[in-house]
Amino acid sequence: MLWIPQLTQDGSYTFFSEEFGEAFHSHQGAKAEAFEKFAEATRLAQKAQSNRLKLLDVCYGLGYNTAAALEVIWTVNPTCQVELYGLELDATVPKSAVAPALLQPWSATVQNVLTALATHHVCVRSHLEARLLIGDARQSIQTIRQRKFQADAIFFDPFSPRRCPQLWTVEFFQAVATCLGSTGLLSTYSRSAAVRSALIEAGFQIGTIPLERSHLRHDWAHGTVGALSQNSSLQPLSQMEQEHLHTCAAIPYRDPTLNDSAEKILERRAQEQRSSTAESTSSWRKRWGIA
Ligand SMILES: C[S@@+](CC[C@H](N)C(=O)[O-])C[C@H]1O[C@@H](n2cnc3c(N)ncnc32)[C@H](O)[C@@H]1O
Repeated sequence: MLWIPQLTQDGSYTFFSEEFGEAFHSHQGAKAEAFEKFAEATRLAQKAQSNRLKLLDVCYGLGYNTAAALEVIWTVNPTCQVELYGLELDATVPKSAVAPALLQPWSATVQNVLTALATHHVCVRSHLEARLLIGDARQSIQTIRQRKFQADAIFFDPFSPRRCPQLWTVEFFQAVATCLGSTGLLSTYSRSAAVRSALIEAGFQIGTIPLERSHLRHDWAHGTVGALSQNSSLQPLSQMEQEHLHTCAAIPYRDPTLNDSAEKILERRAQEQRSSTAESTSSWRKRWGIA
């Protein structure tokens, strides 16, 4: 597959997937997104005080979330020992992302890591043991689970729920939860009610990633953070966000055998929504003045 880089507003590049009909990152900035919604949201600067950290990058793509994490960790603590797994369906994505223009935002050390992972799918050196598992994340998560890997941080970054529902189901989150340590944090850019209710049903406590600056009325968060136990770093959901979880939009995606097609998962949810008596999402939007 040939991937054509697209410039984002912070000067870093992303790809666009014709198959999923979506860009890999926010057009506001691929690099900025990796830092704000993943490295910062999972508190890596604080966690890097410890000598060892375990990271799980679900939907590795160009490797930007891994790259931002390593930059943050080794700036705070250059000798922190990192163990990392990346899960990615399509090996041509990381391979095409090791072109000079795409690597340019990162330090030489991190550029070398991304290049080794894209080329050999493994990178073992002082302070790092990293592996990229190529395949459907619904299957490769089982490998990590069998190895009893307990992550301090999970970056959860599939295409959006409507385009890639198979990675936002209650059952996949349950599998991912078994790979998160008791004090670990999972972060995702999604603020959707279906995603948040799936996380809750899978056993997560959740918090919001608040917007810092002035924002449009229809915007309410940068994403969601999850933990397996009450964690003081979780930012409570606003009243508006909590009420969103009682609407039809909060009916989660389900995939009982972790094997269904996107179409089947979408149809199963649509059916559940049709028979639901929950408040309609349009009435919630109207109540909160969301266009
Ligand atoms: C939004 S992009 C991820 C961007 C990435 N985190 C980065 O920093 O470049 C979604 C990625 O998920 C991958 N993907 C799609 N379906 C998948 C699946 N079932 N299992 C694993 N990866 C999948 C795509 O190939 C794509 O690289």
